[in-house]
Amino acid sequence: MAILGIDIGGSGVKGAPVDTARGELLAERYRVPTPQPSDVTSVVEAVAEVAAQFEGQFDRVGITFPGVVVDGVTRSAANVDKSWLDAPAAQLFTERLGQPVSVLNDADAAGVAEVAFGAGRDQAGLIMMLTFGTGIGSALFLDGTLIPNTEFGHLELDGHDAETRASDRAREQDDMSWEKWAGRVRRYLSHVEMLLSPRLFIIGGGVSKKSDRFLPLIDIRTPMVPATLLNNAGIIGAARVAEIDGNRPAPGGVTPHEAGATVAS
Ligand code: BGC
Repeated sequence: MAILGIDIGGSGVKGAPVDTARGELLAERYRVPTPQPSDVTSVVEAVAEVAAQFEGQFDRVGITFPGVVVDGVTRSAANVDKSWLDAPAAQLFTERLGQPVSVLNDADAAGVAEVAFGAGRDQAGLIMMLTFGTGIGSALFLDGTLIPNTEFGHLELDGHDAETRASDRAREQDDMSWEKWAGRVRRYLSHVEMLLSPRLFIIGGGVSKKSDRFLPLIDIRTPMVPATLLNNAGIIGAARVAEIDGNRPAPGGVTPHEAGATVAS
């Protein structure tokens, strides 16, 4: 049976059953607005509403969360309600949905999908996916293996938390021109490049649809490519990790993706 992928974002909770061998949605995705405030109880109900649309079509669920997730527990809440700090998310979702649930960071999920099926396919070495949206999410892969829960969106740059200056939300809030925003993204990327020397940056998040407006303005040494799975990367990556968790239960309660599962196909 298929695996349901659900992506909890700043404005919407979206889900669909996923063909995890091909990295494609098996049905049109269903979306509900993210509750405001985005507290644990309300978001669990929003996720249940999405899952109800596909009842009987899945037997495992993968869910993304826009913060750090360790052993199914959410450990940070930069852009969601603070009730998520130390919430036993995987347990709460599993109880509510009545199916085994894997929970992972949203950028990690998007990166997993891009490395398995999209812009990061067949890329050896150190690859970094960055998502520019409400915040800046990061996902790091070494030879196709995820190093989970990196939080490079919160690097301090010029005395500021980088995502408050260079996220897509910052661009919209400050009504920045593409040139001005590209300058900030360039400054951010060249700092990350200096720290990590990745072989490739995959640029994701909703704004990657408009990458022709800003990527040509950014001159750094590291090659940059736009993400190819766009809005569906989180859903597809979450389902893929749920499948890996289901197939290879690891000893000691550590799920494979947290132990750094290889996600390349
Ligand atoms: C969070 C990350 C998340 C990113 C994108 C950041 O504020 O700390 O965990 O991946 O936003 O949602």
